[in-house]
Amino acid sequence: MKKYVIKGGNSLSGKVDIAGAKNVVLKAIVAACLTDEEVILENVPQISDVYYMVEMVRDFGGEVDQTGNTLKIRVEDIKSPRLKLETAVKMRASSLFFAPFIVRCGRAEIPNPGGDRIGARRIDMHIDGLRKIGVEVENKNDGYFYATAKTLRGASYRFTKNTHTGTEQMILAGVMADGQTVLTNCAQEPEVDELIELLNLMGADIKRTASRTITINGVKRLNGARYKIRSDRNEAVTFAIASALTGGKIWLKNVNVDVLKEFIEEFKKAGGEVESSDDNGIRFYIVDRIKPTDIMTEIYPGFMTDWQGPWCVLMTQADGESSIHETIYEDRFQYVNELKKMGADIELYNPKVVNPEEFYNFNYDDCTAETKHAIKIKGKVDLNNAVLTMMDLRAGATLVLGALIANGESTIYGVEQIERGYENFDARLKKLGADIEYIEE
Ligand code: EPU
Repeated sequence: MKKYVIKGGNSLSGKVDIAGAKNVVLKAIVAACLTDEEVILENVPQISDVYYMVEMVRDFGGEVDQTGNTLKIRVEDIKSPRLKLETAVKMRASSLFFAPFIVRCGRAEIPNPGGDRIGARRIDMHIDGLRKIGVEVENKNDGYFYATAKTLRGASYRFTKNTHTGTEQMILAGVMADGQTVLTNCAQEPEVDELIELLNLMGADIKRTASRTITINGVKRLNGARYKIRSDRNEAVTFAIASALTGGKIWLKNVNVDVLKEFIEEFKKAGGEVESSDDNGIRFYIVDRIKPTDIMTEIYPGFMTDWQGPWCVLMTQADGESSIHETIYEDRFQYVNELKKMGADIELYNPKVVNPEEFYNFNYDDCTAETKHAIKIKGKVDLNNAVLTMMDLRAGATLVLGALIANGESTIYGVEQIERGYENFDARLKKLGADIEYIEE
């Protein structure tokens, strides 16, 4: 069992390099499997989600060399277009292997994906879109989707709701389809654009032709490429909040501020300020006191769902009542009970919403009467030490932030969750001055 023991109260200062984006590299690995030439990915974070993807690629016959933060991937041949259940169910990105398997073998056997348990996380739109582009998909109720197609045929497909990986699934499928594929109501998340950028470098012809519309002209083959992954916006937000909460001076390096606009806007409303320096990067600090805010998570370019847990910790220190309304996942408040153990004053509730089925990004039918979609946070409350468990990746970061400002020594179990998405998290926090120990029992 892996745990962190954190003594709260230290203010964090220094420089931290923000690592490459997890949610780009996982899809870039899949893209690399569409060609038999070598694809080199740079600025790849050393996290377990990447290791699981690499394991899957090696399992079906690909060669992968991982040296530091560089991955060299060469898939000359796919030995078997079937993913192993036990590895694939660990992560949602595994469901994206449909395209390379079908393009290169004419069939794919892909488990129903796992990943963080933050709701039902269906892939119905992925399957629907794949069928539209010529794939026959069968679900035999053994945990696998069985897909076959002699050729992929360019088609038009409209997503009923925003889906980040669904859009990526269809881009990957359209790249080598015969003819043109036009996707409408697509996700605008910047990670999708990086996938497009990499595929175009590999010889694809993909363009955003209108707002939320992507047009793909299928190509016969893709070549190798070298691509540098941009920095992770979720990691940037985690360190930004750590700096603000602990009253320290953390300089974040390699941050792409363009994808943080909405965060910066809300941060300023909360009494924060942002300073940038050519040499040091960017730092986030509170000018005087933390002010309460009302946040609603949204699709890009709105306030991201992955930021709301860390934001909640910030709001426990605000003078007054704040709220967070989650609209992307139906079950992303699993950290609330844990923060309450530390003394946070948080109440779950359901805001009144007209047409919830249309309003929410998740499928409203998947919710039970107990599922709550919003929280009220009363501040300012001193947090105290507690024994806690991380339930998912972002909830893990949330609890670490809570423990960093809590009185006394907290123990947090479930560090495996953090390891999925944050490279060397404890070591980097320690370097910034945190009193954090990693213990494996
Ligand atoms: N949805 C459906 N049907 C579908 C697809 C999605 O109902 O066919 C629902 C999902 O259940 C969810 C909502 O639509 O409630 C949003 O799903 P989406 O497909 O947009 O996102 P995702 O693939 O589940 C990715 C990231 C998440 C990130 C979101 C939002 C990856 C591997 N995961 O998830 O990252 O929060 O987009 O940008 O790219 C994380 O890094 O911790 C993480 C959860």
